[in-house]
Amino acid sequence: MQCSFLEAVLRNHPAVPSQIPLPTLTMSSLASSAPATNPSMSTTPATPAAPIFDKGLGNTIAATTQMSFIDGGKGVLEYVGIDIDSLARYSTYEETVFLLWNTKLPDAAQLRALSSALQSEYEIPDAIYDMIRSFPTTAVPMHALRTLVSALGLHDVEADADGIEASKRKALRLVAKTPTLIANFDRHRSGKAFVRPNPSFDIATNFLWMLNGEKPTAAMARGLDVCLILHADHGLNASTFAARVTIATLSDLYSAMTTAVGTLKGPLHGGANEEVMIMLDEIGSMEKVEAFVQDKLERKELIMGFGHRVYKAYDPRATYLKTFAKQIATDTGNLKLFEMSQKIEEIVIAAKADKGIFPNVDFYSATTYHCLGIKTDLFTCMFAMSRMSGWCGHCIEQLEDNRLIRPQAKYTGPHGAAYVELSKR
Ligand SMILES: CC(C)(COP(=O)(O)OP(=O)(O)OC[C@H]1O[C@@H](n2cnc3c(N)ncnc32)[C@H](O)[C@@H]1OP(=O)(O)O)[C@@H](O)C(=O)NCCC(=O)NCCS
Repeated sequence: MQCSFLEAVLRNHPAVPSQIPLPTLTMSSLASSAPATNPSMSTTPATPAAPIFDKGLGNTIAATTQMSFIDGGKGVLEYVGIDIDSLARYSTYEETVFLLWNTKLPDAAQLRALSSALQSEYEIPDAIYDMIRSFPTTAVPMHALRTLVSALGLHDVEADADGIEASKRKALRLVAKTPTLIANFDRHRSGKAFVRPNPSFDIATNFLWMLNGEKPTAAMARGLDVCLILHADHGLNASTFAARVTIATLSDLYSAMTTAVGTLKGPLHGGANEEVMIMLDEIGSMEKVEAFVQDKLERKELIMGFGHRVYKAYDPRATYLKTFAKQIATDTGNLKLFEMSQKIEEIVIAAKADKGIFPNVDFYSATTYHCLGIKTDLFTCMFAMSRMSGWCGHCIEQLEDNRLIRPQAKYTGPHGAAYVELSKR
């Protein structure tokens, strides 16, 4: 069926010129016109099979998606069947968002329409700027972002509007506004005046414009664009799962994104790229790399930016990023940082390749972000800014074929215990 993903938004959007033909957008599972949810139509058998215990759910398939495919053994990541390396080399973040949300690449008019719609949603309400002003300048950026994403819902008249179409409009707003939140929180804590978004820029250029108060070079904007493409979606990772759990209760997209940002914040998930930069700072120079890494390996400590729960081969997101990091490090006079990273990689691979330990996406994104002038404690926010599109796409997929996500816990406590009155305990 011809789908209407974003169609309603684009059709009514002042930023979309009427002569641009409306895209025939399709969202993966909009092949069906089924309502968002209908508990009475559940396909669950009357007598469910005995549950299995799968701590961490690593061996459980809990949802379907048409957005990203991962083969961890072979080191493959595809968005809608297109390998991530090709997307990083040739696509843009906006085009990738379209691909994920519509399960096909856009034509030129469709891409223009989506970009225009996003651009016209960059701005945030004045009340949100006031709120940022009220934040302590010492606030951890991910705390600030989680709070601000939640607050956006207070200012969206559609925040609690039911249905998939309203969620798609909210998805567009969330992806468009998140960079404005992050950049202007950083300006606030740095004692700088806010910089309003520039609706003539793409998302990457606009973010760096607001962050630094000047238009970035094309190479800098492209560096960020590549990172945004690489982080946009990654199967049912922890924050995506958390978002789907929230939306599956038929809560709203702002609540789901707030859940996701909070989940991404954990050091076992989104925080590793910050740790890579901290490690590079701690090592400090090329001569100290060998001793530092060997010492860590001997102590059986983790080297940040290596290993992955799913990938047991080279993380496909790291392949092009490594080439890119070298280029941007050269251009910005940070080659030392890249060379140190490369040396760390050589040592870790020599010691750990047999265990499937290779650089992951975080390893070279740390160098890339640093070269773009992004502060280390903003790195996880950069991840959130990109993954917002994947989270929203997953939530739409969930709504299209919804069932409350409700696993069971294995009870390990006592049975038949007596209730003892307070006075007798
Ligand atoms: C991502 C991570 C949690 C995956 O963990 P995992 O799937 O449980 O990995 P495993 O425990 O199966 O690892 C196998 C072996 O490699 C070692 N190993 C895993 N990651 C390592 C790393 N980053 N540095 C050094 N050794 C590592 C393990 O200690 C284990 O060694 P052992 O067999 O001697 O006990 C883990 O690799 C890690 O913490 N990496 C660092 C943090 C990071 O970069 N996270 C971002 C992921 S995108």
